[in-house]
Order: sequence, then C-alpha cells, then structure tokens
Amino acid sequence: MRVAIIGTGYVGLTTGVCLGFIGHSVSCLDTDYSKIAALRAGEIPIYEPNLSDLLEEARPNLRFTSSYAEAIPDAEVVFIAVGTPPTPSGAPNLEYLSQAARCIGQHMNGDFTVVVNKSTVPIGSGNWVDSLLRESYEQRHGTKSADFAVASNPEFLREGSALHDSLYPDRIVIGADESRALELLYSLYRPILDQTFNAPTYLPRPDWVSAIPLVSTDLASAELIKYAANAFLALKISFINEIGLLAERVGANISEVARGIGLDSRIGSRFLNAGIGWGGSCFGKDTAALVATAGEYGLSMPIVEAARKINCRQRDRVVEKLLHELKILKGRTIGILGLAFKPNTDDLREAPSVEIVQKLVDRGVRVKVHDPIALDRFQREHGAMSVQSCKTVEEVVEGCDALVLVTEWNEYRDLDWETLAAKMRCPVVLDGRHALDREKLTRAGYQYLTLA
Ligand SMILES: NC(=O)c1ccc[n+]([C@@H]2O[C@H](COP(=O)([O-])OP(=O)(O)OC[C@H]3O[C@@H](n4cnc5c(N)ncnc54)[C@H](O)[C@@H]3O)[C@@H](O)[C@H]2O)c1
Repeated sequence: MRVAIIGTGYVGLTTGVCLGFIGHSVSCLDTDYSKIAALRAGEIPIYEPNLSDLLEEARPNLRFTSSYAEAIPDAEVVFIAVGTPPTPSGAPNLEYLSQAARCIGQHMNGDFTVVVNKSTVPIGSGNWVDSLLRESYEQRHGTKSADFAVASNPEFLREGSALHDSLYPDRIVIGADESRALELLYSLYRPILDQTFNAPTYLPRPDWVSAIPLVSTDLASAELIKYAANAFLALKISFINEIGLLAERVGANISEVARGIGLDSRIGSRFLNAGIGWGGSCFGKDTAALVATAGEYGLSMPIVEAARKINCRQRDRVVEKLLHELKILKGRTIGILGLAFKPNTDDLREAPSVEIVQKLVDRGVRVKVHDPIALDRFQREHGAMSVQSCKTVEEVVEGCDALVLVTEWNEYRDLDWETLAAKMRCPVVLDGRHALDREKLTRAGYQYLTLA
C-alpha cells in the first residue's frame, strides 16, 4: 500500500521504517529540513538500536521529503506522528497536529484516504482533525467533497526497543467510526498481525510471538485506550514508590516486596521498580492531558493526580537523601551517572536527570555528568546549566563526594567499582534505580544508598 508518515521523530521514523520493511511504499515527511537531509544521506537523527540496519533493508520502499505535494496525493493511508508536547495547563499543544492536518487536507487528491492519528491526542481530536481536513480540502478544491476517514492508531512503542515493539507488539489498536477505514488499516497491518514477514536476523521473532491481537474499535475508545494505558503504567511505578516510603520506615526491602507482589500474575512484575520514577516524553504529558480532559467534563482523576505528585516527590527525595548523608551540599561535588530518561535512548524530554541536576546546581553543588549516548544532546539542549560533562565515568568520579545513578545503563552495572572508589573523595553511591549490586558496592567500600 502507499503510505505517508507526517513527522519523522521517534514514532514516525520507526513506523515508516517498519511499514517499509514489511513491503509498503512509504513517504516519510518532516518540516525539519535538516532531519530530511540527514535521512537522505543515510544518517539517523535519533539514537534507537538497530534502526539504521532496518532502514537500510527498507530503503527501496522509503522516500524522505519535506513536501506535502509530493507525499500526500497518492497516499492511501496518511499517518500523523507529529509531536504533541505539553502546555503549562497540562493540555497538549495541538499546533503541529493542526498544521499537519491542514496541509494534508490541501493535498488530498479526492480518492478515498484514511488519515490516522498516531500522535497521542486528546479524546475528540479525531473529530477535530476531520473538520480541519474537510475545511482545507474544500478551500483548495472548491465545493467538491472530500472522500476520507479519520482513524486513531495509538502507538505503544518504548524508546530503546521501538523496533521490537513495532514488529512484535502486544496488540494493535485501531479506531474509526467508518468500516472502510478499519478495513484498510487491517490490510496495512496484516503482515504484522499474522507475523508473515521474514524477521530480521538482528531482531529475531521471540518464540512466544504468533498472531498479534487486534483491537478494532471506535475512534473515541482508541483515543482513550492510549491515555488509560500510559496512566496505568505511570501509577504502577508511583504505587511501588509509595510503598517504598513505608518499606524504608518499617525496615522492609522494597525490591523483595516488589518481587513478592509482582510474581502474582494478576499484578505482574514489570513497572514495579522503585526509584527515581518515570520521565520521558509520554507519561508526564499524557497523565497531565488525561487530568485536563477529565476536567473539561467536570471530572477529577484523583488516582492519576496522586501518581503525578508521587513522581515529582521522588526527585526531591534524591536531594533529601544526599543532604541527609553529606549534611552540607553547598560546595560538594556530585556525579550523575545517566542522563537519558531511560537506557538505550538519547531522549532527554522530561528526563529526571535534568531536574535533579538543576536542583543540585541551585544548592551550590558542583555537578559532573556522564551518559554513554545522551551527553552531546545534553550539552546542546541544557548547555546553559553550569555542569561539567565527562566522557568517561573515571572522569566523573574524580574528587566526587557522591555519585547518583539516575539512568540504569547496563554498562554502569559492570564498572570496576573498587578502583573507582579510590578516586572519590567520599565513596557514596545513591542508586536511584536499584540497578547496582548492593553487596559488591558495600564490599568495595561504598556507602550504598537507595531512595527506599
Ligand atoms: N516517543 C515515544 O516513545 C512515543 C510513544 C508513543 C506515542 N508517542 C506520541 O507520538 C507523537 C510523536 O512523538 P515523537 O516522540 O515521535 O515526537 P518527535 O518530537 O520525536 O517527532 C515529531 C516530529 O514531527 C515533526 N513535525 C512537527 N510538525 C510537523 C508538521 N506540521 N509537518 C511535518 N512534520 C512535523 C517534527 O519536526 C519532528 O521531527 C507524540 O504525540 C507522542 O506523544 C511517542
């Protein structure tokens, strides 16, 4: 099928490459010319494992452009995957979505087209996009009526394993109020739903994956599924962090508690890691949007609001723990291990590291930072913060009064902790992710701390 993807960020590029890989003809469009130029030159503007390999395999089916006139007229399915960043009120900024919808409407050729919201958008956005498309189509084409339908296809990929999640998803959700749209999307996704494509060698099909469940529903339900899913995951993390506080007071081990409850198949062990809490471009923004949407209907969402508050508190607790241990923070040197909001990505949007670094700098701490992948991005996006960027962990630890593990990159687990301890002024490690080996670090002479 002929597909256009609007937006070549984490979601749009992954979707475009995967659809190209399974045989569709895909135009990837972005208004950021530098991204398109990079992609044309074979460079990937984001860090995502295996993306460049899959892009090379899919390349014969991919085109990169900044021109709506090139990408839209022939497309049977158009995905909108532009950013929907949060505004101060909590409601997402829909400016990019509206620009994209208007440009698509102007360039549709009159043949039946399905326009799919893949961006995470508030409930009701499908109808709004419908009206924008109709309006701009009619402005361009006079009274001739447009033949299109709007659908929702929420994205559940996780940065860092985005390709795996797209080729072997837990489920695919499609929502539309017109059956023609659902049928077209079903055909589009059939190779993934039936798992009939040849798996790439570097992304083998897991043994447990056979047919992928399809949830085919109405527009509003699909839109709500995305928000409800993210809110649930966010509150699972906040729940274990709340229990963590009590665990600390009563002398319980929160990792053991999490394991003990997570093995109950009704609960499940994932997203029960106590620590600094969530970051990234989705959970904060989507929980805020859910609360804002509920407010528009005169409802409150106390559980979701509590999850948000608990998440903020965890970041304050990092400073509190350090203060408790070091007594005075002003003038201390503290090293931050990990800047990306999670391992295997370079994404710093709403990364806990940024807020923690700022809180420490505000208290007069000299901060040194390291990340295996996101260091350059941190310098570009947060260069104004006066911190010392270090290319190696050895450089970070030199003269440090404490280290804080913020992102659990695998390589931090296997460091030569004994040698590093000797270089620190004071061997204190605050393991914000319960990722390190407490016994090993204690044996190496560290004061090993966790948030709970
Ligand atoms: N990143 C994730 O893990 C993830 C997961 C699920 C859902 N989502 C949702 O998917 C959407 C996209 O997220 P992302 O992380 O890929 O964002 P992103 O910021 O990485 O990418 C968005 C891209 O859209 C481009 N763009 C903006 N306006 C445009 C326009 N009018 N025409 C063409 N291109 C335009 C931008 O230049 C940018 O490259 C968001 O709504 C997000 O909430 C993201």
